[in-house]
Amino acid sequence: MSAPVSYERQGSVAVITVDNPPVNALSVDVRKGLLESVIRGASDAAVTAMVILGGGRTFIAGADIREFGKPPAPPGLHEVLDAIEASPKPVVAAIHGTALGGGLEVTLACHYRVAVPSAQVGLPEVKLGLLPGAGGTQRLPRIIGAEAALKMIVSGDPVRADRALALGIVDEIVADLRAGGVAFAEKVVAERRPLKKVSASDEKLAPARSNPAPFDEFRRSIAHQARGFLAPYKCIEAVQAAVRLPFTEGLTRERELFRECLESPQSRAQIHAFFAEREATKIPDVPRETAVTAIKTAAVIGAGTMGGGIAMNFANAGIPVTVVETAQEALDRGLAVVRKNYAATVEKGRLSQADMDRRLGLITGTLDLGAVREADIVIEAVFEEMAVKKEVFARLDAVARPGAVLATNTSTLDVDEIASATTRPGAVIGTHFFSPANVMRLLELVRGAKTARETIATAAELARRIGKVWVLAGNCDGFIGNRMLHGYLREAEFLLEEGATPQQVDRVIYDFGLPMGPFAMGDLAGLDVGWRIRKGKAHLRRKDLRHSPVADRLCEQGRFGQKTGAGWYRYEKGNRTPVPDPEVEKVIEQSAREQGITRRSIGDDEILKRCLYPLINEGARILEEGIALRASDIDVTYIYGYGFPRYRGGPMFWADTLGLKSVCDDVVAFHTAHGEPWTPAPLLVRLATEGKGFRDYARP
Ligand code: 3HC
Ligand code: NAI
Repeated sequence: MSAPVSYERQGSVAVITVDNPPVNALSVDVRKGLLESVIRGASDAAVTAMVILGGGRTFIAGADIREFGKPPAPPGLHEVLDAIEASPKPVVAAIHGTALGGGLEVTLACHYRVAVPSAQVGLPEVKLGLLPGAGGTQRLPRIIGAEAALKMIVSGDPVRADRALALGIVDEIVADLRAGGVAFAEKVVAERRPLKKVSASDEKLAPARSNPAPFDEFRRSIAHQARGFLAPYKCIEAVQAAVRLPFTEGLTRERELFRECLESPQSRAQIHAFFAEREATKIPDVPRETAVTAIKTAAVIGAGTMGGGIAMNFANAGIPVTVVETAQEALDRGLAVVRKNYAATVEKGRLSQADMDRRLGLITGTLDLGAVREADIVIEAVFEEMAVKKEVFARLDAVARPGAVLATNTSTLDVDEIASATTRPGAVIGTHFFSPANVMRLLELVRGAKTARETIATAAELARRIGKVWVLAGNCDGFIGNRMLHGYLREAEFLLEEGATPQQVDRVIYDFGLPMGPFAMGDLAGLDVGWRIRKGKAHLRRKDLRHSPVADRLCEQGRFGQKTGAGWYRYEKGNRTPVPDPEVEKVIEQSAREQGITRRSIGDDEILKRCLYPLINEGARILEEGIALRASDIDVTYIYGYGFPRYRGGPMFWADTLGLKSVCDDVVAFHTAHGEPWTPAPLLVRLATEGKGFRDYARP
């Protein structure tokens, strides 16, 4: 392997290139190379200035995350940055791709920064549960002011080159990376510009020094979004230190806060989530080079809740999409919802009218299924009934072009049976979107027994294009996500009969970090949906197992949730706040009486375990059966599909954090107390006995 940092001279300018694929992370060899190169440039009599740039597709994307948690290897990043800033000759950073985290911090230690127009810069550490730990929280506010720095550091979102120029982060936009960087360095020398040391300039901090109040206001403004997270608040503290303290003391404080974050379970969980998301896209028998069908046009069958949202995904990505319905009225209704959704985004100022018109122009409604003829992918989102789905797929088989992907958005039905209605089961795959489909990031791809590799690769490529995080699931009832949810909802309802209230269960789950508890979620989604499914499957229900009739009884009373003003809670007109309802309490008490259950006071700890441990136990089965390829895929599913708090890393990572022995002991105790549904998963028992975690499990 070639050296990760190279040094060469172009005229009197030393060009220092970091070449550490894939993203030029600041691993120990890069730090060493940078330090040596800067020292060499400083002492090379033929050199008047230096330019640091990235080889390959990007500048430096940050510290090497894989080194976190390992013993630090010298030189540290601080030492490198000190050498750069202290250089007696101007050092210019020339940025392309992304300068992120430690990468941007390297540039802030340079005396000048230039960027190509497509470059982006940012401090995304907060997304890993960290804060910029190499001076970013001290230097950035000194360039752009405390308020703008807070926004960038606490959101972690990068800014584009033009914005970076406007903020003063970069000094000039250059057309050509290397030539532009070298020319700029020569100009600095020719014009005898000063060595601009960011650490030494305090002017931009003046407004925040005279008025520290914005920090409290900022804290309040992020309260909802940052609920439960530690790092955003540590970021604020660090920027506050920049305002309050001289540079070196601020740097010391930043280091302390960085360490606190790094040692917290939250950053471990968030770093796990970062890698888990990337790992999920690696399917052992579907290598990256697998052939894909280019998706130029698409079709969606059904313009209901999901069909409309799925069509928006295509339009948002610039892919023309035909939406097929059975009746004009349903089509009009569906497309009107799409229009209303776009209009709401325009109203919020997040989309221009022209973009809305362009996107709507890409969606064509029709009642003719023959119109899917040209589509490269067809996604079916009709009623959740096997007979209807099979009929649709048989017709699709007759009209769709050879090579087209035929996808179903079913949430519970057997993908293989749906595929059997066609002569090309290899082209059939499940694409399970989450509601609202235009908003939720997760896409579960469901692999049938005969789904071809090309079909998986094509669906995966589509997921990437429409900005989804995807996970591959095997074909079973509920796939990964909804299959696990079953036990969660069951226990939540049992807890009510045993003495808890909907508001108590919801509070415990909310406090744990999910966006809402099971009952508030049920009211939002509509209780009639599950009711219909339960009625359809009533003949399959085992009479010897406990069953809570409470949800059905609420539905019998017309309580379908928010849409009818009452469900597990009641709702004032025009208000989505759940209000506890004594009527619901009566139904619960009645059900408990009928089943001979003596209601008791139930602790929060029991509620948490009873609701969440079924996720872990079922997750273990899903893993052992191969429905999920890895435990981390289950974590990705729950973080992106169900709002499981990212700072806990997903249910399986959380279980590892608790220790599988302790989880398993509780599952065994619940099994003794509550019977069969709590039968411990064999894999959970095995790993717990061996003192291992899900992270150690690799499928044989
Ligand atoms: N360290 C180690 N590996 C990294 C990495 C990093 N900072 N950033 C990315 N990678 C790895 C990925 O895991 C992936 O590996 P794989 O191919 O084996 O799965 C590979 O690089 C390519 O990454 P992506 O698939 O994400 O490539 P993209 O082109 O889609 O995105 C990116 C590139 C925008 C740079 C994105 O990878 C990213 O956001 N990386 C993280 C950036 C970050 O958080 N930086 C801050 C790090 S913390 C820090 O700097 C602390 C400092 O303040 C002291
Ligand atoms: P919906 O009832 O809102 O919409 C279904 C639409 O399909 C209706 O507009 C109906 O007129 C149309 N339709 C029925 N038969 C058709 C046919 N033969 N040709 C063309 N159109 C036809 O249902 P929803 O909620 O959109 O669900 C659709 C699918 O998505 C189901 O399989 C469901 O299980 C699944 N799903 C639903 C989620 C949800 O939260 N609603 C989440 C994930 C998946």
